[in-house]
Amino acid sequence: MKLKIIVLAIFAALITSCGGDGKKEEKVSAPVEEQKETVEETDPMKNKGIGPVTSITLGEIDQKMADEGKAIFNLKCTACHKISKRLIGPSLVGVTTRRSPEWIMNMILNPEVMVAKDPIAKKLLAEYIAPMANQNLTETEARQVLEYFRTKTSLEKDE
Ligand code: HEC
Repeated sequence: MKLKIIVLAIFAALITSCGGDGKKEEKVSAPVEEQKETVEETDPMKNKGIGPVTSITLGEIDQKMADEGKAIFNLKCTACHKISKRLIGPSLVGVTTRRSPEWIMNMILNPEVMVAKDPIAKKLLAEYIAPMANQNLTETEARQVLEYFRTKTSLEKDE
């Protein structure tokens, strides 16, 4: 009980000290970030997004990995996505031709930050209104889903 009070007191002291001297913080403009946005918008494939995945190298399509990705996709993503058409989220056919692999994985693993800060994801959110959900995939699972997307650059009739 005593400990709780001490902790509270420290917390209160911290809050008051953070309150500063009443001066308002001046807003600083961020020209560097604006510049970055333009570059990423002109070539979306150069945008790797924001999240744990900074660089991946793709080889030949690994069908086993893609099959695992397909199962995950059907379980965790089809409430909002179809490969062939827009649902709550965008259709995902050919997504690997319009976004970099890192961007796709970061969108899956870190959607909250992506829709708040990444220029492409921000635009998508503005268009689709509903935010992309974090389905708590592991990095391996996100990589498998990416492999599945790589097999979906054109449509088959049952999609
Ligand atoms: C609750 C609905 C919802 C779920 C579940 C969901 N998404 Fe999304 N997703 C969206 C929306 C909406 C967008 C568009 C961006 C936005 O509005 O935030 C999106 C965007 C995306 C994009 C970018 C598409 C593009 O055109 O660039 C990818 C890739 C994606 N989602 C993959 C997935 C995967 C993989 C899963 C499953 C692990 C998943 N999503 C689960 C709603 C969802």
